[in-house]
Amino acid sequence: MEQNEKINPPKHFSERAAIKSMQDFEALYEAAAYDPDKFWAEQAGAIHWFAKWNKVCDWSNPPFAKWFVGAKTNVAYNCLDRHLTTWRKNKAAIIWEGENFEQRILTYQELHRKVCKFANALKQLGLKSGDRSIIYMPMTPEAAIAMLACARLGIIHSVVFGGFSAEALKTRINDLEAAAVITADAGLRRGKEVLLKQNVDDALANNECPSVKNVIVHKRIGSLTKMQSGRDHWWDDLTTGISEVCPAEELDSEHPLYVLYTSGTTGKPKGVVHSTGGYLTQVVATMKWVFDLKDEDIYWCTADIGWVTGHSYVVYGPLAAGATTLLYEGAPDWPKPDRFWRIIEKYRVNIFYTSPTAIRSFIRQGDDWPNNRDLSSLRLLGSVGEPINPTAWHWYNRVIGKERCPIVDTWWQTETGSIMISPVPGATPAKPGSATRPLPGVMAEVVDDKGEPVKVGKGFLVLSKPWPSMLRTIYNNPERFKSGYWSRYPGKYFTGDAATIDEDGYIWCLGRVDDVLNVAGHRLSTMEVESSLVRHKTVAEAAVVGAPHELKGEAIHCFVTLKQEFHGSDALTEELRQWVATEIGALAKPERIYYVAALPKTRSGKIMRRLLREIVTTKSVSGDTSTLEDYSVILKLSQQGKEEEEILGEKK
Ligand code: WT7
Repeated sequence: MEQNEKINPPKHFSERAAIKSMQDFEALYEAAAYDPDKFWAEQAGAIHWFAKWNKVCDWSNPPFAKWFVGAKTNVAYNCLDRHLTTWRKNKAAIIWEGENFEQRILTYQELHRKVCKFANALKQLGLKSGDRSIIYMPMTPEAAIAMLACARLGIIHSVVFGGFSAEALKTRINDLEAAAVITADAGLRRGKEVLLKQNVDDALANNECPSVKNVIVHKRIGSLTKMQSGRDHWWDDLTTGISEVCPAEELDSEHPLYVLYTSGTTGKPKGVVHSTGGYLTQVVATMKWVFDLKDEDIYWCTADIGWVTGHSYVVYGPLAAGATTLLYEGAPDWPKPDRFWRIIEKYRVNIFYTSPTAIRSFIRQGDDWPNNRDLSSLRLLGSVGEPINPTAWHWYNRVIGKERCPIVDTWWQTETGSIMISPVPGATPAKPGSATRPLPGVMAEVVDDKGEPVKVGKGFLVLSKPWPSMLRTIYNNPERFKSGYWSRYPGKYFTGDAATIDEDGYIWCLGRVDDVLNVAGHRLSTMEVESSLVRHKTVAEAAVVGAPHELKGEAIHCFVTLKQEFHGSDALTEELRQWVATEIGALAKPERIYYVAALPKTRSGKIMRRLLREIVTTKSVSGDTSTLEDYSVILKLSQQGKEEEEILGEKK
C-alpha cells in the first residue's frame, strides 16, 4: 500500500468550505479535546431544544452515558417544524425515485403534514411514547414518514431491512415486543416485487409474535395482499381525513429514538439503542463537517434505511440540517448499469455517498456507463462501510469525481451513530485507503494487546472517551453491552477493528478482528450463519469464515459436517445456500459450502477459524497448530479444501 501518497483538497473546494484549512480543523479538534463539555454544548446549539440541559455529559456510571441531562427535544420537530418558519418550508425535503422511474418530491411543509397525519393515525391505534414499532418497508417516502412519525411521538422504532427474511423479522419483533409493524404490500428490486407484507404475515403466523396488535400497510405497488381484519390496516385508510395537527412530544434527551439490530460475535443479533438529543447533536455536527453541506445542495446517500447509514445520513441528519435528501428505491444496475449516474444527471446531485462494494461493481461494468452521463454537478464524494482500496479510490476520484471532488472515506459503526473518522473535505489531505483522522470530539486510539497506545504501527481501534451519539446499551441486555464493548480494554470502547496508525496520525482500518464478517458493507456474524446451517436437517456441525471477494469485500465460506445418513452433493449445496438466504436474508447466502469429515478444534473444543480462513484464502495451512486436537484433521481438511476448489471451480 502506498501509504505516503497525499492528495490535497482541491483549492476551489477549500475556498468555499466551512472548514477551510488544517489550521481551522486543528483549532476545532483542540477545542473539543480541551473542554469536551463546552464543545458539545456549542454543537448542541445547532438544534432546537424545548428545555436546556443541566449537565452536558454524565459519565458517573460507565459505560452507561447520559448526554444533555434534563434537556427536552424532539428529533422530528428538528427535522420538520423548525424549518417551517423559514424559507425552507417550500424547499424539497425528499426527492424520491422509484425503481420503475416513478418520481415524487416532498417539500418540508408537505412532509410535515404527512408525518403529522401518520402520527395521528398511530395515536388512534393506541400507540404511545415508549412503545416499540417495527418498520419493514421499501425505500419510499413513507418509510421516512413512518420513522419521523414514531420519533414525533416517542415511539421507539426499529427498521428491519427489506431484504431480511420473515425469520429475521420475527426475532426482532419478539426481542422488542413490538406493538405494531409498519410495512408495504411490496417493494421493487430489479423489476421484481419483494413481498414484504407476505413476510410479515409469515412472521406473525401461529401467534408467534403475540405483542403485535396492529399492522399498517402502505400500498406501494398494489400487489395482491391479504388483510387480516382487526389487525391489518391500509395506510391510506388510516390517514384519510385525519387531523394534520399533531404536536411533537417534548422528549427527554435520553429517550431512545431507535433500536437497530446488528451482528455481533454470537448468533443472536444485538439491538443497538440510540438516544435522542446526543444522537441528533452529533449527527448534525458531522453532516456539517464531513459533507460541508450548502443550502442549495442535492444530497444523495445511497444507503437503505434498513442500515444505520440510512438513519443518520439519509433521514435524520440531512433533514435536521435542512437539506434536500434523495431516496432511490431500487438496485444500482436496474434497468442498466448506469442507473446511479442517470439519477445524478437527472437531479443534478452535488453530494454522493456510497459504499466501496458499489464502487467495485461499477468499476467492473466499465467507464462508459458513467462517462456517458453528465456528472458535472458533483462536488463531493463519500464512501462508507468497509475499507476502500486505493485502486477503487482512484477510480472513484478520476471517473466519477473527474479529479474535482474531494472524497470522504468515513469510518463509523452502527454503534457509534455518526461518522467518527473521516477527512474534512476542505481541509484534510487524503491518503487513499485511509479514513484519515478522528473528527473533533472523537478520541480514537490504536492500542496494543494490553491497551497501550501504539504511536506508529498496528493494533486495535478503540474510542477512549464517550461521545454524544454513542449507543446507550443493547436492548434488554446491558450485560452484553458491557462485556461486548467495554471489557477488553477497561474504560475504553473496543470497536472490533484492527487498524494501523501512521506517522501523520492517520488511521487505516484493516477490518474486524472478531467473528464478524463484512459482506458488501453489511455486518454478519459467523455464528449467525452457523446457527442457521445447523438448523438444517442434514447438518451436524458448521464453521463459517470470510474470505476476500473481489466485489463483496468478504464472502461467506462454510465448512459443514453432515449427519451420518446424508451426503454432500450439488443439490444439497444449493439447498443449504438457499436455506441460509431464507433464514437470514439474501445477503447471508453462502458463497461456498465445503463438506468435511470433521472440523478442526482446539483442545478446549473451539473451532479454529483462523485455520479455515487460511484454507479458503491460501488453500494451504501454515503457522502454529500445536493447540490442535488432531493435526490430521487439518491436513485432511486442507487437502479437501484444495480438491473442493478444483472440483467446484467457479461453480457456486
Ligand atoms: C464496521 C461497522 C456505519 C456504516 C456502515 C457499516 C467497517 C465501516 C469503514 C471505513 C474501513 C469501515 C468497520 C466497522 N467500516 N466504515 N470507512 N473504512 N472500515 O456499519 O454494519 O455497523 O459496520 O464496518 O469494520 O467496524 P456496521
